[in-house]
Amino acid sequence: MNTNDQFGKQGWTPDKIKGLSGKTFIITGTTSGTGFEASRILLSKGAKVVMLNRNAKKSEDVIATLKKELGNHINVSFILMDLAEQASVRKAAQEVLEKVTRIDALMCNGAIAQVPTQKLTVDGFESQLGVNHYGHFTLQGILFPLIEKSKGRIVTVGSMGYNMGIKTIKFDDINWDKDYTPNDAYSQSKLAQIMTVYELQDRLKKVGKTDVKVYACHPGSSRTSLISTSGSLMMRIIFGLMKLSPLTQSAEKGAYPELMCATEEDLDQKEFYGPTGRSNWVGPVGAHKLEPHAKDKAVAEKLWEVSEKATGFKWNL
Ligand SMILES: NC(=O)c1ccc[n+]([C@@H]2O[C@H](COP(=O)([O-])OP(=O)(O)OC[C@H]3O[C@@H](n4cnc5c(N)ncnc54)[C@H](OP(=O)(O)O)[C@@H]3O)[C@@H](O)[C@H]2O)c1
Repeated sequence: MNTNDQFGKQGWTPDKIKGLSGKTFIITGTTSGTGFEASRILLSKGAKVVMLNRNAKKSEDVIATLKKELGNHINVSFILMDLAEQASVRKAAQEVLEKVTRIDALMCNGAIAQVPTQKLTVDGFESQLGVNHYGHFTLQGILFPLIEKSKGRIVTVGSMGYNMGIKTIKFDDINWDKDYTPNDAYSQSKLAQIMTVYELQDRLKKVGKTDVKVYACHPGSSRTSLISTSGSLMMRIIFGLMKLSPLTQSAEKGAYPELMCATEEDLDQKEFYGPTGRSNWVGPVGAHKLEPHAKDKAVAEKLWEVSEKATGFKWNL
């Protein structure tokens, strides 16, 4: 069931964003794809954008591109952060706290996908779980006090892939030492990110910290660099062919759900936001069905504990 009626036939579009002057957005993974497009739209509306990226050269290049298009006056900067390294995430988060006085939205956008063989991060995590979930888990936790002070939001970019793998968290082998498949490992990492959104909502509610809103969304099937950056040759060929079909949309449209969650008033946190057309891969942006396994409370609670233990970061909630 799709519930995009809230925004009419066209679904949500950035026309709905009023001016963002005075607002600050922190966004991970802006060197390409939806993160780049989201940054461009936020900046075009007058926001301040701080990008958290792992590659300095690419970051400088995208900032130059954005200044060329939008003008030198735009308020954009980057901080180096590798989501694959907990130490880098902690360092970058501290830099954010030194650099900005408010966070209107932290947009957890960066990711890798479909990594062909099991790889471990320096902290010993399966790479997709380490980058997509654990990296953002720690980042969110460290930035939370400032987000709270700003009455801001946390926006997690998930994936319909949450429903295309094992549909739970493999606690007895979370790093896929046995039976690694690129799809299952990616799917688990995106499911973990989405489960953490709803678990965080519950934990905030329990301690009365309801000023911070937390949202889960996804970009559908968007023509970005995701598969060409980390996927196998076969996946690149398959996705290359898919890009030619009407089952994919532009990276700009893929950015709409996270932009909506970062800026739109009166969004229901319990919903899951993304394209509402065919297979939820394309189409007007709004709320749509989330399968129950993504809100399995027992699994979500355990995942939270496992994540705190693995990262060594304990949320102060
Ligand atoms: N495209 C789709 O169809 C699709 C479908 C479902 C979900 N998503 C989700 O959409 C989000 C955006 O992805 P995209 O499709 O726009 O892909 P993309 O074009 O590959 O962008 C991913 C971004 O994440 C960054 N990144 C990767 N690993 C990182 C790390 N260790 N530390 C910091 N940054 C890192 C990349 O930086 P580098 O340039 O340094 O690699 C890049 O800026 C992701 O969360 C993805 O899971 C995409």
